[in-house]
Amino acid sequence: MQDLESLKRKWTAAIGAADSGAALDAVRVEALGRKGEITLLLKSVAELAHEERREEGTRRNALKLEIAAAIEARALALTDAELDSRLAADRIDVTLPARPEREGRLHPITQTLDEIVAIFGEMGFSVAEGPDIEDDFHNFTALNIPPEHPARQMHDTFYVDAASIGRPANPDARGGASGPLDAGESNITRVLRTHTSPVQIRAMQSTKPPLRIIAPGRTYRSDSDMTHTPMFHQVEGLVVDETTHMGHLKGCLTDFCRAYFGVADLKLRFRPSFFPFTEPSAEVDIGCSRKGGELKIGAGDDWLEILGCGMVHPKVLAICGIDPTRYQGFAFGMGIERIAMLKYGIPDLRTFFEGDLRWLRHYGFAGFDVPTLTGGLAR
Ligand code: PHE
Repeated sequence: MQDLESLKRKWTAAIGAADSGAALDAVRVEALGRKGEITLLLKSVAELAHEERREEGTRRNALKLEIAAAIEARALALTDAELDSRLAADRIDVTLPARPEREGRLHPITQTLDEIVAIFGEMGFSVAEGPDIEDDFHNFTALNIPPEHPARQMHDTFYVDAASIGRPANPDARGGASGPLDAGESNITRVLRTHTSPVQIRAMQSTKPPLRIIAPGRTYRSDSDMTHTPMFHQVEGLVVDETTHMGHLKGCLTDFCRAYFGVADLKLRFRPSFFPFTEPSAEVDIGCSRKGGELKIGAGDDWLEILGCGMVHPKVLAICGIDPTRYQGFAFGMGIERIAMLKYGIPDLRTFFEGDLRWLRHYGFAGFDVPTLTGGLAR
């Protein structure tokens, strides 16, 4: 008769020694498989003398059940252990700081845009966009700048020779379809938009008032010197409603400038001006001092021009299908590079577009500090 105790010890040890699912399977086959030791032991009960069979059969079956249970328990333990070690190997310490040498910097234009969107977003404005390649109608005519108007010369417009280039490869650049130009389309004069004001037209054409949008984006003028680059950024603002008036324009821009420059009592001056698409029109100056050749915003009794604005001209509303006897609106436009330079003390406009990494490391912003009014804008 087999010594069942020593068999049990042998298989228990083998099960305990199996350190992987595969090793444990091998043990299972050797013990409980069709030709496994325990299986054969059970079968051989038939060879025993009749009076022994019952008792010995029960003992051998009990051993089989015990070994099977031990294998099961070991299998569970092994899965747990494998999961634990996988988890341990996969561990990421999320509290580790980013490696500074790998951290990219946000361009001051991006940062300034984010701040502008945060401030106007808080006031309930949404962001609208239009194409960089505009047609003459949206860039000029609909803004009450008819052909031959001197304002067209003032804008140093880049004209796009549509017939020779066809449509741009990236249709998004002009916000429309792609493929060859249709007959007739090539007659349309296309320009690189000289300001973001055409987005006012697009917004009024596509949406019924009340309207409250800002439109940040690239603009282009054929001009290049210390204070001008052929491509620069503007942000446009437009509010149209039944009771919108000049007081709303003043309040809105005052709140914006104070939040953006972080000066709670910043003074603003609205100077009469002229734009074909607004009436009345104004240019806005903010208070500053230039003592000792150093520009300081907020303090002092000097003035610095930062933006153009006015009440949307009734003709412009009418062109866009908005009844000027019922609705009125205000609009403003400002240069993003300019207000970025003022806030962050960047002395030379052209450096914005030189792509110099050392400049970006110096004037750039950490990507993790998303500007919000409550969380704080960069100062
Ligand atoms: N589009 C004007 C410019 O580029 C700025 C402006 C926008 C003025 C909206 C008034 C209203 O100079």
